[in-house]
Amino acid sequence: MGFPEIRLRRLRRTEAMRRLVCETRLEPSNFILPLFVIEGSGVKKEISSMPGNYQMTIDHLARECEEVRALGIGGIILFGIPNHKDESASQAYADDGIVQQAVRAIKESVPGLLVVTDVCNCEYTSHGHCGKVVGNDVDNDITLEWLAASAVSHAKAGADIVAPSDMMDGRVAAIRAALDKNGFINTPILSYAAKYASCFYGPFREAAESAPQFGDRRSYQMDPPNAREALREIELDIQEGADMIMVKPALPYLDIIARARQRWDLPIAAYQVSGEFSMIMAASRNGWLDLDRAMMESLTSIKRAGASIILTYFAKPAARLC
Ligand code: PBG
Repeated sequence: MGFPEIRLRRLRRTEAMRRLVCETRLEPSNFILPLFVIEGSGVKKEISSMPGNYQMTIDHLARECEEVRALGIGGIILFGIPNHKDESASQAYADDGIVQQAVRAIKESVPGLLVVTDVCNCEYTSHGHCGKVVGNDVDNDITLEWLAASAVSHAKAGADIVAPSDMMDGRVAAIRAALDKNGFINTPILSYAAKYASCFYGPFREAAESAPQFGDRRSYQMDPPNAREALREIELDIQEGADMIMVKPALPYLDIIARARQRWDLPIAAYQVSGEFSMIMAASRNGWLDLDRAMMESLTSIKRAGASIILTYFAKPAARLC
């Protein structure tokens, strides 16, 4: 049987009908909101390339987190911007580092809110690279020690999930071993497993003050044309003990999300990164795109591709529209 008996438009005729056959629904619990924390108090400074996003001191952060919890958003992911940066990223794994302080404060004042921490060094190194620079490159194996120490310090402060984003080889195993050795056997690892060397991180680097001072990140982050290599990255991270994996950026890499979803059964996250956010914001401010619809369509597409967790700067406005 075919046309004219079969007419797919029958199921699209009314709002009620479309609602009934809808395959993909966004929920606030799918979202994780990235937040940027700075030292001091009483400061909330808008990031010019990311309207509606701020660098905040801990007092403002706590208020923001109350709002996030009230909206039913899945959680937050914290990025720290320390006053002091050095060659060895010492503030990344200091027990009184800015992220560690922020986690403690949020856990005390907003209990029940899920707190993820980004485990990386680029916000903490004077040169802006994600690890120990030896010669002109980042040394993988020394960097693993910093990452493991950071993850443990975050878990100690009360982080619910640690999320390494550095793209060093072997970091998931190193972090798992360090967490377990320190008694954090129940702290999950959300690995940024397939993270590409993307131009779409531009606005984030302004927000996190983490642009590399020389060179770029192409010797550790993935080359955009490669998809099979992403599957190898994900497979290795799963073998090393990742509890959840992430694909980043999201919209330009939906094929990777979809292939990972078909192949593995663990939770898959996707990061709608700063540049993806800023493109939609800029176009809508120019009157070229409808903000709400572009936001919801892009998020729905990411979920439809197979990501059940979406890190997004739209978490609050999207949660209000779910
Ligand atoms: C840190 C990190 C980056 C992002 C998340 N974690 C920047 C980078 O790798 O340069 C990007 C997030 C975004 O663009 O929103 N390594």
